Amino acid sequence: MNILIIGSGGRESAFAYKIAQSKKLDKLFIAPGNAGTLAYGENVPLKVTDFEGQAQFALDNKIDLILVGPEEPLVKGIHDYFLSREDIKHIPVIGPQQEGAQLEGSKDFSKQFMQRHQIPTAASRSFDRSNLEEGLAYLETQNLPIVLKADGLAAGKGVLICESLQEAKDELKAMIADAKFGAASDVVVVEEFLKGIELSVFVLTDGTSYKVLPSAKDYKRIGEGDTGLNTGGMGSISPVPFADEIFLSKVEERIIKPTVDGLKKDNIPYKGFIFIGLMNVGGEPFVIEYNVRMGDPETESVLPRIESDLVDLLEGVAQGNLDTRSYTVSSKTAVTVMLVSGGYPGDYESGKVISNIENVKESIVFHAGTKEQNGEVLSAGGRVIAVTTLQDTLFDALQQATADAGRIYFDGKYFRRDIGFDLI
Ligand code: AMP
Ligand code: GLY
Repeated sequence: MNILIIGSGGRESAFAYKIAQSKKLDKLFIAPGNAGTLAYGENVPLKVTDFEGQAQFALDNKIDLILVGPEEPLVKGIHDYFLSREDIKHIPVIGPQQEGAQLEGSKDFSKQFMQRHQIPTAASRSFDRSNLEEGLAYLETQNLPIVLKADGLAAGKGVLICESLQEAKDELKAMIADAKFGAASDVVVVEEFLKGIELSVFVLTDGTSYKVLPSAKDYKRIGEGDTGLNTGGMGSISPVPFADEIFLSKVEERIIKPTVDGLKKDNIPYKGFIFIGLMNVGGEPFVIEYNVRMGDPETESVLPRIESDLVDLLEGVAQGNLDTRSYTVSSKTAVTVMLVSGGYPGDYESGKVISNIENVKESIVFHAGTKEQNGEVLSAGGRVIAVTTLQDTLFDALQQATADAGRIYFDGKYFRRDIGFDLI
């Protein structure tokens, strides 16, 4: 098969790494890819939302399957675009159509979906310009802290946890009346604060059957000890030690099955990944959010643990017979440490020469924000490289990943040395 991956981050590097191992693969392309994906396939200079360009490339290169990494093209309708054209609709796209992508693209849509299908989640109400006064009055009846969420995509910044009533009222007004997050906060979901420990569970579905992929936990804050600003993710581990068999069976019965069945009942076609952000509240799982793609850097910890052929699984999704595909997971622990540019998630410099990658022997080096120029690898983003180690124990994996993260060099490099140490 010829496969085209859409995206350019650490997640897409991990997909490329895994897909390149498949016996079913003929040629792999990554659009646009990065310096690291060159090791697994050919980079194609196309933007992730250039659907016409992707379509032409797919026709010219006899692409048999398209795997979409990030949410933006999904929410903007890449899958619908391919289905809408006679000449390309035979090419399967892994990732939901626009309607299903609303699970991530609209918090209000996803809350209504969960309520309709009795999927455990925080109690909530949605407000907009027409009932802002009601929203302000509603805040007075709620416990603190309280969570305000912009309905639409806001680059991971649209969630506010307010500690005081005044702050909550000010923010609700700023979001709805003053468009704090642009059109994304025309509608705001006001949600009960859940106290617990977060983890993510990933599901691959063909719309009827599903495979539960390894669980993972990511570390979102920039600083050690989970301090400082939120980032796209500074590291991840898989599996999650506190997500034992009992907890995961609750997740499957109460959340995964009703989610896949709910999509079917609502006539929402869905072929792709579902990323379920969960809060473990005293042993009971609640959904914090859905994403319609894999997580980054969770993918870098999850995929190396999957022993099965990912292309075979993706083919099962495309053909609607995922239940017939073999699926096994390694019992080893994966730890991913992200190397970022100094200053990230604020301003940072790019174009720094990255060296010593070849000295990492015991970990997988996934490129995230990198580019190749005149034979050198340069940084080209906030999150630059993800180092993943697979070991028999969490402790060994943590030590190895941290040591290997230290071996790679670029000017201004920063990484957290405490990824996963809270769980030992
Ligand atoms: P989201 O974009 O929905 O993932 O929210 C971003 C982050 O806000 C989550 O990863 C949680 O850490 C936090 N968060 C969101 N909703 C809640 C909630 N209901 N209770 C507590 N924390 C939350
Ligand atoms: N690591 C969180 C995300 O991919 O959304």
